[in-house]
Order: sequence, then C-alpha cells, then structure tokens
Amino acid sequence: MKVILIGFMGAGKTTVGQLLAKKTNLAFLDTDQLVSQRTGQTPGEIFATVGELGFRQLEQTILQENLVKQGVMATGGGIIELAANRQLLKNSTVPVIYLSGSFGQTVERLVKDNSRPIVRNKSLLELAELWEQRLDKYAEIATETIYTDNKTAEQVAEEVSQYM
Ligand code: S3P
Repeated sequence: MKVILIGFMGAGKTTVGQLLAKKTNLAFLDTDQLVSQRTGQTPGEIFATVGELGFRQLEQTILQENLVKQGVMATGGGIIELAANRQLLKNSTVPVIYLSGSFGQTVERLVKDNSRPIVRNKSLLELAELWEQRLDKYAEIATETIYTDNKTAEQVAEEVSQYM
C-alpha cells in the first residue's frame, strides 16, 4: 500500500480514499468491500451470522493479503480492535493516516446512514464509550493524524497526499 487510512466510523475514510486514489492514479481498496466480496455478505450480515470476532478475523485476513499491493486503503473503524491487526499496521512501512474529528461531527455523519451494525446496536452513550476506548488505539498506530472537522473530503485528501 502507498497509504492506509484509519479512524472511527464516519471519519470519511472511504470518501477520502476514493478521491485520493483518483488523484494519485492508484487502486482504491476498502477492507469492508473486500470482506463483503469474499463472503458475499455485508458487514451487518457477517456480524449477525458469525459475530464481531468472526468479522474481525476476516478483516485480519484481508489486511494481511492486501498490505503488499500498491494502492490507497481505507479500513473499517474497528480494524484496530485486534492486537494482531495493530501489529500488522505498526510493522508495515506504509504511512498510516488517522482521520480524526470531533465526536459531534462524526456522529452527525453516522446518524444519516443506518447501515452500520455497530451503530444500529448502540445508544449514543455506548457509542461515546466505544469512541473513548478506541482513540488511543488509533493514535498508537498512526504515523500521522489529520483533523477533519470543518474540512471537505477534497481538502483532507490533499493533506493525506502530502504524506505519500
Ligand atoms: C466497524 C466499522 C465499519 C465496518 C463494520 C464495523 C467498526 O467500517 O467495518 O461495520 O467496528 O467500527 P467503517 O468505519 O467504514 O464504517
């Protein structure tokens, strides 16, 4: 990979990643899409059938298989949950960019979209707890952090391209 985007759900990883891939003429890879292609199921369906751990293991396989390819990778917000995934990302020489914003602006984007199983099954308070639990994990593996509040996806993509 030339760059890997991490961050909470709703951070804009997919939108920014797609723009960036276009801008740099690289392939765009999205771990959620790759997991879905592999299984023929949406993340929601996978959570429902094999649970969150099953989904995380699939994410790990996909991450491992695709790290060596050339492209822009957007990851699922929970990629940092497994220690094995954090290690894979830390050991790679690829820039890992953390798209970070305020909880308020992130949730605003999330509530507009009902597709995520983690969001559907959680209250706002539980989501805030998950946010708190994950922040350090993103920061731990990120080589750079970009703040996204009040920025367009184009502006964020431009900032990310400076680290590639
Ligand atoms: C998840 C984030 C989702 C997807 C799945 C679980 C999470 O990806 O992988 O629904 O645990 O944060 P996005 O961050 O692209 O929404």
